[in-house]
Amino acid sequence: MKASNSKHGKQPKPVTVTDLYAMKADGHKIVSVTAYDASFAAQVDAAGIDLVLVGDSLGMVVQGHDSTLPVTVADMVYHGAAVRRGIRRAFLVVDMPFLSYASPQAAIQSAGRLMRDGGAQMVKLERAGLVLPVIEALAQQHIPVCAHLGLTPQSIHKIGGYRVQGRSDDGAQQLLADARAVQAAGADLLVVECVPAALASEISHALAIPVIGIGAGLDVDGQVLVLYDVLGITAGHKPRFSRDFLAGQNGGVTGALEDYAQAVRSGQFPAPEHIIA
Ligand code: KIV
Repeated sequence: MKASNSKHGKQPKPVTVTDLYAMKADGHKIVSVTAYDASFAAQVDAAGIDLVLVGDSLGMVVQGHDSTLPVTVADMVYHGAAVRRGIRRAFLVVDMPFLSYASPQAAIQSAGRLMRDGGAQMVKLERAGLVLPVIEALAQQHIPVCAHLGLTPQSIHKIGGYRVQGRSDDGAQQLLADARAVQAAGADLLVVECVPAALASEISHALAIPVIGIGAGLDVDGQVLVLYDVLGITAGHKPRFSRDFLAGQNGGVTGALEDYAQAVRSGQFPAPEHIIA
């Protein structure tokens, strides 16, 4: 899908969930990045990014925690509302933080706040299993849901580290089954994080809903990265599946984001060195 040019003052047509489905059907890659405030969100939007995620990664990259677990619904509402004010075209997804969707009732309350006060057009939550009834309950309320499988950072103390998921045959079969299950429960979109490229490809071909990868190879319906990784300003460990698009860039932040979008749309990102076999 071609981004209309907001630099020349024309009001761009906002991306909708049906556009995301059409992009999958037409083989147009969905380009996504995180944002946490209005100024960066405006740059992201100007660069023609299709989907902005207010990720609970903000707990690490903005708040300086060593995991996403301390993030609250109030934090997500605050950052979601700020990002909302910065974008005109991109579709806005906001993360449901740790334990904010421990039951269907809690999830409806949390998602309500994220949509009413935090500007979300869709909410994202991690895992399948016991989370499936939550996805069903949200879908019944017509709350659009993005599921998140593979490496799920809210489970970090259960899985024992930020490592590749779905490497074993059993793990891969479970991930494929989980992907089918979240779609059946009513998810509209799926993020798969840090899984072998062949498995992510199988998942994206098996599902009707768009599958957006991060560390999941090329053969998925789109890519998402953490904004601070794209701009090379993440402190400490840099994920090997990410790339600094600002390095050597003359066009500043918007130029880096435009390069990222172009690299995803043309199939040049992820390159072989970013792909997990
Ligand atoms: O929180 C986040 O930024 C995310 C992306 C890494 C997909 O969930």
